Amino acid sequence: MKAYRIEQDGKLGRGTIVDMDRADLDEGDVTVKVRHAGVNYKDALAGLGGAPIIRRYPCNGGIEAVGDVVESTDVRFSPGDRVIVHGRGIGVSHDGGFAEYLRVPGDWVLALPEGLSALEAATLGVAGYSAALAVDRLETLGLSPERGPVLVSGATGGVGSLGVAMLARRGFSVTALSSKPDDGFLRGLGAQAVMALPEASGKPLEREEWAGGIDAAGGKVLEWMLRTTAHGGAIASIGNAAGVALNTTVLPFILRGITLTGINADSEMPLRRRIWARLADDLKPAGLQAMAREIVLADLPDYMARMLEGRITGRTLVTFDD
Ligand SMILES: NC(=O)c1ccc[n+]([C@@H]2O[C@H](COP(=O)([O-])OP(=O)(O)OC[C@H]3O[C@@H](n4cnc5c(N)ncnc54)[C@H](OP(=O)(O)O)[C@@H]3O)[C@@H](O)[C@H]2O)c1
Repeated sequence: MKAYRIEQDGKLGRGTIVDMDRADLDEGDVTVKVRHAGVNYKDALAGLGGAPIIRRYPCNGGIEAVGDVVESTDVRFSPGDRVIVHGRGIGVSHDGGFAEYLRVPGDWVLALPEGLSALEAATLGVAGYSAALAVDRLETLGLSPERGPVLVSGATGGVGSLGVAMLARRGFSVTALSSKPDDGFLRGLGAQAVMALPEASGKPLEREEWAGGIDAAGGKVLEWMLRTTAHGGAIASIGNAAGVALNTTVLPFILRGITLTGINADSEMPLRRRIWARLADDLKPAGLQAMAREIVLADLPDYMARMLEGRITGRTLVTFDD
């Protein structure tokens, strides 16, 4: 079988496409024939030596996969079941989804909910799951369309684009913050407005503009979101594409009562089941079926390099032949 396998290269990892024996995959009760594996920023960092992501070498990359069970010693799964696996260390410390087969413990496997095809589930993947977790959390914190416009940063990325589409589906007026020129992509997903990050004013608080938002960027972007979110607003922090540092004052919190909440996609299975059920229902973005670009495994290194340069828009899936 073919796999994108990451070997140690100094302190970081370096991936190549190899032929490997299926029997050499990491242990698990369930073997899955992978149909699609979404490509994430973290995968690109791991495979191209961008950050010390990999915890065990060598390791097949790919932090998510959608496919069909071909063998199972776990009574909950049978051959032919369509499943999704993400997180739990796949693509980091356990052989991941950039391979024709994946073998994992049954506790990591989630049956696809009714209402999502394999392609749709893979188009969502970790990015869609994280965006959905953020929307769900923000709604729990009281965010609703009546409270005013919301902002999504890193908007043309996987998390951002799906976050825009989900919030629009929920009836929010969405402003997309993007470093790319407005070519209609974000408005096509339901954004009402598209903007670039303004120059920093140097003030600890600025005009109240957003009822809340989803931040896939971190750094200066999240700092600005904190300064411009309105009284009682909530921001979900998911990503760090613009940096891990966060220089803020406490004023957004103590004068405007803003909540900054953190999102981690590697959540427990009961929460995953609930969020994936929402993804198949009221959070399913319109037009999901046509949202992703499909590539073959051989194209993966090039796509990941472009991803690290911020040149990829939306979701990209590695699709394997039947
Ligand atoms: N917390 C979690 O569990 C979790 C789960 C999934 C992903 N993440 C993180 O979420 C972030 C987004 O992931 P993704 O898969 O959506 O990645 P992606 O597809 O590469 O998107 C990232 C987007 O961020 C923007 N961006 C890139 N470089 C930037 C920079 N230097 N300054 C400002 N904006 C920049 C770009 O959008 P624009 O050009 O439109 O601005 C880019 O498309 C990553 O940091 C990822 O690690 C976290």
